[in-house]
Amino acid sequence: MCGIVGYIGDKKATPILINGLSCLEYRGYDSAGIAVIENNEICVMKDKGRVANLKSLSGIDELTSTIGIAHTRWATHGKPSQENSHPHMDNSNQFAVVHNGIIENYNELRNFLTQKGYFFLSQTDTEVIPNLIHYYYTNGVPTIEDRFLWAVKTAVDDLRGSYAIEVVCKLYPDKLIVVRKDSPLVIGKGSYENFVASDIPAILPYTKNFYLLDDCEYAVISNDSIQFYDSSLTTHDKPIKNIKWDANATEKNGFEDYMLKEIYEQPNSIRETVGTRLKLDEKCSFDELSFTKEYLSNINKIYIVACGTAMHAGLVGKNALESLCRIPTEVDIASEFRYRNPIIDEKTLCIYISQSGETADTIAALKLSKKKGAKTLAISNVLGSSITREADYTIYTHAGPEIAVASTKAYTSQVVLLVMIAMYFAEVLESSSKDTINKLKTSILELPSKIETVLKENDKIKELAKKIYKEHDIYFLGRGTDYPVAMEGSLKLKEISYIHSEAYAAGELKHGPIALIENNITVIGILTDPNLMEKSISNLQEVVARGAKTFVITNQKITDSNFDCMINIPTIDSLISPILSIIPLQLLAYYISKNKGLDVDKPRNLAKSVTVE
Ligand code: AGP
Repeated sequence: MCGIVGYIGDKKATPILINGLSCLEYRGYDSAGIAVIENNEICVMKDKGRVANLKSLSGIDELTSTIGIAHTRWATHGKPSQENSHPHMDNSNQFAVVHNGIIENYNELRNFLTQKGYFFLSQTDTEVIPNLIHYYYTNGVPTIEDRFLWAVKTAVDDLRGSYAIEVVCKLYPDKLIVVRKDSPLVIGKGSYENFVASDIPAILPYTKNFYLLDDCEYAVISNDSIQFYDSSLTTHDKPIKNIKWDANATEKNGFEDYMLKEIYEQPNSIRETVGTRLKLDEKCSFDELSFTKEYLSNINKIYIVACGTAMHAGLVGKNALESLCRIPTEVDIASEFRYRNPIIDEKTLCIYISQSGETADTIAALKLSKKKGAKTLAISNVLGSSITREADYTIYTHAGPEIAVASTKAYTSQVVLLVMIAMYFAEVLESSSKDTINKLKTSILELPSKIETVLKENDKIKELAKKIYKEHDIYFLGRGTDYPVAMEGSLKLKEISYIHSEAYAAGELKHGPIALIENNITVIGILTDPNLMEKSISNLQEVVARGAKTFVITNQKITDSNFDCMINIPTIDSLISPILSIIPLQLLAYYISKNKGLDVDKPRNLAKSVTVE
């Protein structure tokens, strides 16, 4: 995916565009560029590398234009290079375009345009768009007065795939046109200025009033107006949304990296997720849901479908749903689920989890299950994101903007939300005792202060990171609810430290993985379930006996152990212990990455959400 920003108003566009791009670098960071209309000509400045590199290009500070578009890229078609960076222009340098998404039929369109005499300077799919707009602008017969809008719309009609597109034309220095399909785009309304971005944080410092553009909807934006059109260019009004986020939410606030800030935000993000949904001695309330006892008792199966970290949250949620509601629950990786013809009918409930709400496989899987008649429930952190528009029901995590590519606070919010959903179902179904539910409620309300206690282990974890950051392989072991934590801890480590790592269910060790254990190998054990404690300790002893260095995260008093280091965390109901036990592993991955001198927030090859298959 890529990030796009746009500005039109009475201020210099360039600093606003560049600031916006810096906020969107989590979406892609292999090249960046801007296009502004300067003295009636389009001026494009772009290069491979990060936004900081763009900022240092000679002449960029001298640009005075008050209209512009900007882009930060995560390469799909064509390697990162100056030519492949956005914005792209048509051959006559009249139109400039930035694009997030993929044009699936770009080869066909490229051939068509080549036959018409157009040439291409890049390997991107995007470059067909400005040329196609130019083709229709100069050759078409517009059916409306606004020739620019008509040409954009006629070109877009030819595109197959996903796109969020911004277009400027040197002949119209007072407007920019945007359109989207299956890629996010928001428009921020200011006073005598308007903004465009792939995601709200990029323009949050300037406005809290936003329009969320719908699929196949166009907006023509000037200093003082935003006009919306549907796909047949009929105008319509649209409600504006006011976002309550603090502009500081997108700042580092004294932390060295967003990831560390987001780890430390977890006491508060959990508070926000729990919100008013849960109170002691009252039933859990989800205004978003209207599930009756009859509906819930007829569910034959729940599928939780997601990718990466969100899928790990689903594994924790499965335990809660099965144990509190006794409904069979399966967790699936979205990219597998969508192609394996899953058994789904109108008695199936499908829960889709996505922090960004834009993950292509998760959205496709949701569409598939809807087609098969299942009810769909989306869990997302991003207001109005694609997944929330597709699902029958949406519950927001309210974790606040998550900027670091490696997900931390969104994961813990997803977990607590899933457990609360399981409690809500159990209350409707009367499938668990009041005592069980009340104890769990108390535990959830204690989470923020217990997370604060875990965060106090920061220095010990920092020291541990110093000892092991040069390792080549690190293994994670856990049983029961500790197994998804092992998986998530291992993923966090891989993502930002590039250390090879695997997670195993501790009981599986003897079925193969133990062959990997040799002298001095690092093994991290998560031991929080009192019922499985003895078995997990035995598994860890087996690796100690084979020379492994063992580090243990536990909420139990383990005496007489020969583990190399123990991080103690508070005890809590085992259904939600993954929320506490993941925190030392998030910190460990963070400090290992810092010790290796890596870019924690923007790890290589990764983008915050994966909007392509
Ligand atoms: C998390 O650290 C990862 N960056 C990644 O696994 C992520 O969770 C996955 O791509 C799903 O993203 P989503 O929640 O936005 O759908």
